[in-house]
Amino acid sequence: MWTLSGDYILFIEKVKKKTGIDLSLYKEGQMKRRLTSLYEKKGYSNFNDYFKVIDSDLDELYNFLDRMTINVSEFFRNYKRWEILEQKILPDIIKKEKRLKVWSAACSTGEEPYTLAMVLSNFMTLGSFRVLATDIDDNAIARAKLATYHERSLQEVPSDVKKKYFIPCDGLFKVKDEIKNSVVFKKQNLLADSFEKDLDLIVCRNVLIYFTEEAKEHLYHKFSQSLKKGGILFVGSTEQIFQPSKYGFEVVDTFFYRKV
Ligand SMILES: C[S@@+](CC[C@H](N)C(=O)[O-])C[C@H]1O[C@@H](n2cnc3c(N)ncnc32)[C@H](O)[C@@H]1O
Repeated sequence: MWTLSGDYILFIEKVKKKTGIDLSLYKEGQMKRRLTSLYEKKGYSNFNDYFKVIDSDLDELYNFLDRMTINVSEFFRNYKRWEILEQKILPDIIKKEKRLKVWSAACSTGEEPYTLAMVLSNFMTLGSFRVLATDIDDNAIARAKLATYHERSLQEVPSDVKKKYFIPCDGLFKVKDEIKNSVVFKKQNLLADSFEKDLDLIVCRNVLIYFTEEAKEHLYHKFSQSLKKGGILFVGSTEQIFQPSKYGFEVVDTFFYRKV
């Protein structure tokens, strides 16, 4: 057990030097299990040998990055939460603010920022707002920019929205340009890079669960500093913040926090 931890610690250091990604900020057990099953499948028996492979083979480096970032997403994920955003949170923000600054942090393959743009289009004309969408994973961002999805990613999309904003194409569904053009994608590491300021809304869902408690606490502070007073942080449905007031937040609804 001790040897395995030592092996992993060294691996963490080398990966950080090579990619800038600090695996020590991700929950250890979960991450180790995911990576061990990947390298064992490829016939390696320890992190030391595995690093040599990802250090010398670009394909293997991408496989590794693919495994450590979990890209599962869907449109209107946890639909009831998006209803709360539309019916309760946005009307309140829009009352005070005409030009919104919104950010989908850890946006994966784009379903979340496009959902956000679709919901915002009920309040503002398309073209009059931009959604910033960021992720650490280049592949995910490239797929997000393609904006073409399997029907299973659209399960929670209301039928009128599906008709309005998707074009069926060879068994897949393409997001219409008017929505696509309202999202700007950028690569960003939440655990290392700086954040934009004066935001009205940050949507950061289903990534905090992978981070250690310390990394999460640091992030909550950074999110809070990035929001305007009255701005909202919208988190995933298993990611309730314990003691939000520690970070200058108050609860508006389950999974929605307002900066006070
Ligand atoms: C499960 S997906 C969540 C997608 C979307 N937010 C949702 O809820 O459907 C998690 C995403 O977090 C990204 N991620 C992991 N670590 C990250 C980091 N340090 N900085 C930015 N994004 C990260 C992964 O690349 C992946 O796309």
